[in-house]
Amino acid sequence: MATPTEHNKMAPAKATKRKITYRKTKARWHPSMQAIPVPGIRRMVNMAAEMEDVIHLSIGQPDQPTPAHVSEAMIDAIRAGQTGYTMDAGLPELLVSLRDYYSKKYDRELTTDNILVTSGATEAMYLALSATSAPGRQFIVVDPSFLLYAPLIRMNGGEVKYVPTKAENGHQLDPEDVIRAIGLRTFAVVLNSPNNPTGAVYPRSTIEAIVEECAFRGIQVFSDEVYDHLVLDEDETEPYASVLSCGTDLDHVMCISSFSKTYSMAGLRVGWVISSQGAIKKLRRYHMFTTSVANTPAQFAGVAALEGDQQCVRDMVNIYRERRDVITDLVNQTPHLTGYKPGGGFYIFPDLPIHVDASDVCLRMLQDTGVCTVPGDAFGDSCTNSIRFAFSASCERIEEAFDRIIPWMKKQKF
Ligand SMILES: Cc1ncc(COP(=O)(O)O)c(C=O)c1O
Repeated sequence: MATPTEHNKMAPAKATKRKITYRKTKARWHPSMQAIPVPGIRRMVNMAAEMEDVIHLSIGQPDQPTPAHVSEAMIDAIRAGQTGYTMDAGLPELLVSLRDYYSKKYDRELTTDNILVTSGATEAMYLALSATSAPGRQFIVVDPSFLLYAPLIRMNGGEVKYVPTKAENGHQLDPEDVIRAIGLRTFAVVLNSPNNPTGAVYPRSTIEAIVEECAFRGIQVFSDEVYDHLVLDEDETEPYASVLSCGTDLDHVMCISSFSKTYSMAGLRVGWVISSQGAIKKLRRYHMFTTSVANTPAQFAGVAALEGDQQCVRDMVNIYRERRDVITDLVNQTPHLTGYKPGGGFYIFPDLPIHVDASDVCLRMLQDTGVCTVPGDAFGDSCTNSIRFAFSASCERIEEAFDRIIPWMKKQKF
C-alpha cells in the first residue's frame, strides 16, 4: 500500500493518464417534432433584435393597453388570495359569464357544460386538433392561415389539404372551393375569420354554406374566432358570422376564441372552446392532462372584461379601422405590391409579383430600411410572394415605415 506521500506523488501521473471522454448524446425526439417549422416570424424578429431603429409591422400582438378595470380585477383577485387552481373546466364565474355572453350574442341556448376555459386560444386549438388528428384523416385548411394549424395536424399524423385564397379577391374564401376539396378522408375544416394573416372577414353566406355542408356530411368545423370583435366594417344588417350563429347543431362545430386580442390580454392567457357537451366533456379531461387549468387571476380579469363597459372595445376597433385605412392607402401607393382592403383583425397581406420570393425581399427590406414584416411562406405554401404587415402600430409609425419602404421598392427590379 502506498504511503500518503507516495500517493501524492503518483496522483498527477494517474490524472494525465485518465482520459475523459464525453459521449455524444443525440436527443431522441419524437418524429412528430419534424412537423414544427422554424417560424418565419422568429427569423425576422431575431434579426431585427440585432439592429437599431427598427419599425415593427411584424408582430400580431395588440399595442393598446389592457383596459384598467380588467387589470384591476386581476390585481384584486391576487390580493384576495385567488391564486390556487380553479375547477378544471374553468372558473365557475367565468363559465357563467361566457355562457350568458354567447347565448345573448348569438341568440342560442348554451350551458356552462358547452364551454371549456383554456390557456389562450392556442391551447384550445391544440386540444381540438391534437385530440382529433390521426393518420388517414384529412383536414382542410385555408392557405394562407395562422401558422399553428398545419403543424399541429401533421404532428399527429393527419394530412393537411390547403384551399388557397388570393389577394386579388381580397383573400375571400369561396365556399365552393372548400366543398369541392372535401373527399372520403376529410375529417375537418379549419376556419379563421377575421383571418390571420389576411384580415379577410368571411360573410355569413360563406360560413353558413360550409357549416351546413359539413354537418350534412359529418365533418367537423374548427373555427378560430379570436378576432371576432375586430371587425372593422361591421354592418348592422350582417353582424359577425360565428359558426355558433350559422348552424343549429353543436356536434360538428368547435368555436375557439380568447381575450387576447379583444381586450389586449395576450399575455394573460385565457381562451375557450365552445362545442357540444359531449365534446367538451372529452376535451376537459384532455385539458387536465395538458395544462390542468388556465391562470386563475386572469380568469377573474376575464369576467371583468365580459361584464364591464364595452366602450374600450369600440375605441380599440376605431383605432384599428383608422390604421387599416392608412395602411391600405400606403400599400396601394407602393410599387410592386397588390393590396386590397382587409375587413378585420390587424393585418394586410399584399402580393409581390408572382415569381418574387417574399422571404428574400423581407430580409433585404429589413436590412436596408429597418422595417420588419413577415414573409408569406410563414403562413402556407401558396403565398411565397406575399408579405404580412401588422398594423398593431400607431398611424405615425405606419407612415414612417412606408416613407422608408416606398422609395426602396421603387428601386427594386423584379
Ligand atoms: C388566428 C389566431 N389564433 C390564435 C392566436 C393565439 O391566441 P391566444 O393568444 O389566445 O393563444 C392568434 C395569435 O396571434 C391568432 O392570430
